[in-house]
Amino acid sequence: MHGPDPTLSDDTVLDALCPAPAVSVLSTHARTGVILPGEEEVAARIFVPARRAEFAHGRDCARRSLRRLGVAPVAIPVGQSREPVWPPGIVGSISHAGAVAAAVVARCEAFASLGLDLEPDEPLDAALVAQVCRPGEVVRLAALDADPGRAARRIFSMKEAAYKALWPLQRAFMEFHELEVQPVPACGTFTVVVRAGACPPALAARLTGRFMRLGSLLASGAVITRDPTL
Ligand SMILES: CC(C)(COP(=O)(O)OP(=O)(O)OC[C@H]1O[C@@H](n2cnc3c(N)ncnc32)[C@H](O)[C@@H]1OP(=O)(O)O)[C@@H](O)C(=O)NCCC(=O)NCCS
Repeated sequence: MHGPDPTLSDDTVLDALCPAPAVSVLSTHARTGVILPGEEEVAARIFVPARRAEFAHGRDCARRSLRRLGVAPVAIPVGQSREPVWPPGIVGSISHAGAVAAAVVARCEAFASLGLDLEPDEPLDAALVAQVCRPGEVVRLAALDADPGRAARRIFSMKEAAYKALWPLQRAFMEFHELEVQPVPACGTFTVVVRAGACPPALAARLTGRFMRLGSLLASGAVITRDPTL
């Protein structure tokens, strides 16, 4: 992304991406001089200034989202695989894209997991399309966007959101081709099907996603419903 996006503001509502009672906060301007809680400061001390600002911006969105749930400010440490470690009873996700950061959170009673991804709405490099998209996804790209590169960027974003939602429940790295995204462009929704790897198909079947354009960005949200057998 190149510079601020005048079509986005801190009032931009992301809530449509992840259904209630999940709540979200999007921010277009990182606050300066943010003091991070101790556990976050420890994680951030190896960061270069730009990465620290991005990290702090995401954490700020996360704490503001938690406040919307009635949760007092709390440290959100960094997990072993870089995932945010939410306070007990909370699920959530963080994403950044250039000057924009966003977070979505919910109580565990509502959802088993959440995933959020922001991407610049720019074509994916042609050389990456086949790495990201399965053949079945490539044939459906035209339904997503006239430009195959932009359509592939949408698939990329949906997979990133799905990966973030799946991670806390299975803690397994996934290649892009392990999931097939099945978008419904008219509704702005998607589901995912496991095509390879270790992700239990029954877990992926509980994942539903939504995607939208947000100014110069693409946004994808994924929610995983609670296991009805538990
Ligand atoms: C984490 C990842 C999904 C997105 O990271 P990114 O490109 O930097 O983009 P975003 O800004 O949207 O997201 C970063 C945030 O995701 C969160 N995150 C990082 N790793 C995570 C994980 N394993 N699970 C859940 N959330 C994670 C963090 O909050 C991070 O921000 P922070 O480091 O400031 O706290 C990606 O980098 C990654 O690890 N990919 C490997 C797996 C993959 O993409 N497989 C194909 C999809 S099926």
